[in-house]
Amino acid sequence: MSKNIVVLVSGGGTNLQALIDAEKNGELGNGKITCVISSKADAFALTRAADNGIKTRVLVRKDFSDIAAYSKAMRDALVEEKADLVVYAGFMTILDENVCDVFENKMINVHPALIPSFCGKGFYGLHVHESALEKGVKVSGATVHFVTAECDAGPIILQKAVAVEEGDTPETLQKRIMEQAEWKILPKAVQLFCDDKIKVVNGKTLISE
Ligand code: GAR
Repeated sequence: MSKNIVVLVSGGGTNLQALIDAEKNGELGNGKITCVISSKADAFALTRAADNGIKTRVLVRKDFSDIAAYSKAMRDALVEEKADLVVYAGFMTILDENVCDVFENKMINVHPALIPSFCGKGFYGLHVHESALEKGVKVSGATVHFVTAECDAGPIILQKAVAVEEGDTPETLQKRIMEQAEWKILPKAVQLFCDDKIKVVNGKTLISE
């Protein structure tokens, strides 16, 4: 039986596209993207999903009174979709334990920096790269990790370093990190998960290949 992958998005969806392309190339192992859920009704990621015949749903944060109510609605949607794996691909809302406890070690996120640098609340999208450039780091990158109720703190699955270049802007650094790291390690982590190659022991992952 293949594993149902539900992808959560909020924006452009280039990481979703990398997953769709990987599935087409037979690189998601035993996984199949069965649904895309967006926190924004106008996210371009929804168009990417529809163009590829993938079911879409929209759950807008502002339609719910607080994060607990939103998280419960998301949990119900994920259960309804029979999600075996939930992938945050540019999903910009922090869900609470109403979801994280039910899908423990079954939700993964891609973060555009080398955790524990430039992560946690407020570090998302271009802000991450602005902070990295402000600090003057010479190397940044991306991290794929399991999601827990604490933002960007779950067990790390894969990381890839990317050089910062002189004259970089947040936009050029973001683009390089996406191309060289995110679009590679996110599909790879999904494949490892779907092929049952990731174990979590004492808050760390063990990967067998
Ligand atoms: C990506 O760089 C992703 O790592 C980041 O937002 C971008 C979304 O792009 N996610 C976060 O910052 C989450 N903390 P995409 O919609 O084109 O995949």
